[in-house]
Amino acid sequence: MKLIQKNRIRVALLAASFFMLSCKHELPGSIISGGDSSSGGGSTTVPTQTSNCSADTVYFVNEIQPIVNSSCAMSGCHDAVTRAEGVELTSYAKIIRYVSPFNTSGSKLYTVSIKTNNDRMPPAPMAALTSLQLSKISKWINQGAYNNQCSGGCDTTNFTYSGAVLILNDTYCKGCHNPASLGGGIDLSSYASLKVQAANGKYLGSIKHSTGFFAMPKGGSKLSDCQIRQVEKWIQAGMQNN
Ligand code: HEC
Repeated sequence: MKLIQKNRIRVALLAASFFMLSCKHELPGSIISGGDSSSGGGSTTVPTQTSNCSADTVYFVNEIQPIVNSSCAMSGCHDAVTRAEGVELTSYAKIIRYVSPFNTSGSKLYTVSIKTNNDRMPPAPMAALTSLQLSKISKWINQGAYNNQCSGGCDTTNFTYSGAVLILNDTYCKGCHNPASLGGGIDLSSYASLKVQAANGKYLGSIKHSTGFFAMPKGGSKLSDCQIRQVEKWIQAGMQNN
């Protein structure tokens, strides 16, 4: 009896380790948690805390979710349909499974992103997260990885390319719109290529969710009125590389 039990455990362990070896980028959390109800709700749902933007704080809704949405949760990767290697990163409840609050080095979300070998996420040929994006993620984790959001952090009198459009574009759009991941054939990874889409009206049409355009950012919430206005003012002022 005892021997049979032992053998069963051994077989189970072997099967488990084989599974782990066969999944190059598997994140242990998804094995432990077993199935994944696609509802996205359940006991792990944490209400969003909203406050006024503070320059010292990194906010999940404003900064982290958009990065994950455009660099990890796009179609073919960790969206609700593909769920590459069982990992879905489409909501706070799902993302937090790969985060250990206050512990960057214990957080898969961060550690897989800084790898320098073939296991890095997003995988080549997609670009690695930028150092600014990585520092935002690590700061957010070290501040407790809360489901937080702030308002009032946007200023419509700031509508330069480098101070407004580029930052917004890199956070919400570039992960899906670069030569390695060319959503809809649209490249937004450089000033020149972004300007083409701004000049033909598609950039503004898509972020305003105007009729006749695909609504952007795909899979994410609509940009704030202030952010849309910043883009609009930059376009009206001649789309300078300022
Ligand atoms: C998760 C991936 C993803 C994100 C994030 C994303 N896009 Fe897209 N985008 C796509 C895909 C895919 C298409 C092709 C149309 C479709 O399938 O919806 C597209 C299409 C477009 C188009 C063409 C629209 C049209 O009507 O022809 C524009 C312009 C665009 N995106 C701009 C943006 C901007 C600006 C952002 C950021 C605010 C953004 N996208 C964020 C994936 C994404």
